[in-house]
Amino acid sequence: MNKTYLQEATQFINQRVHSTATIGLILGSGLGVLADELEEAEVIDYHEIPHFPRSTVEGHKGRLVFGKLEGKSVIAMQGRFHYYEGYPLEQVTFPVRVMQMLGIKQLVVTNAAGGVNENFSAGDLMLITDHINNMGDHPLIGENDPELGERFPDMSQAYAPYLIQHAENCANQLNIGLQKGVYVANTGPSYETPAEIRMLRILGGDAVGMSTVPEVIVANHAKMDVLGLSCISNMAAGILDQPLSHQEVIDTTNRVRDDFITLVKLLIKSFPNEA
Ligand code: HPA
Repeated sequence: MNKTYLQEATQFINQRVHSTATIGLILGSGLGVLADELEEAEVIDYHEIPHFPRSTVEGHKGRLVFGKLEGKSVIAMQGRFHYYEGYPLEQVTFPVRVMQMLGIKQLVVTNAAGGVNENFSAGDLMLITDHINNMGDHPLIGENDPELGERFPDMSQAYAPYLIQHAENCANQLNIGLQKGVYVANTGPSYETPAEIRMLRILGGDAVGMSTVPEVIVANHAKMDVLGLSCISNMAAGILDQPLSHQEVIDTTNRVRDDFITLVKLLIKSFPNEA
């Protein structure tokens, strides 16, 4: 991690906005619309921020939005960076480091994912209870900066139990169905083969995607409390007799985004303090 880059990016942002937010949001494919709901919004495009990578995927905007959601100050990433875009994981997770520097203590991460668990359906929302890093790479490889976190961070509660509980309570209150499960991160960019999906199921995966895990590792290193939500945008390869497409991912997330937005808004409105 290049500390100078981090400091320059943070300094730039602090000169533009005066954020007091302690809650961060990372909005995945098709879910970025939530950032449009922020009040008193101040927006910084990624390309303006020194050393920030740029978003290259369709359906992902690239900007940081500062503002209030349900009265709470938040910082939202509208669009994220993926390993498959060619960025090293250090760059993929750079925005999480910036959030750390800006004082974020609790992080809500969202994504679109394929359903591996055969009891799921496209359009389900899944609370991430744990993850499997299947990327064959790790964002913390290299020299450790003890000011940012410890060399060997604990990952036994990577998704904070009190936030899992909170999300379940909110979904119940809204009568929104919420699956729970283990998210597996693959590099992409190809979707998986049916054999790979059978393997992931045997390994304990319930959903599969191409993001989130690197950011959650860095957030844990930064001692943030994490809440993870997946929109099951499609059933994973080989489960249904149909090919997978990015269009299906976008279409399904569009279809469920009202529920998603309602849920995240309630989550934030009554967000518990750090445990
Ligand atoms: N596999 C991997 N990543 C994904 C999928 C999938 O089926 N759907 C959305 N992101």
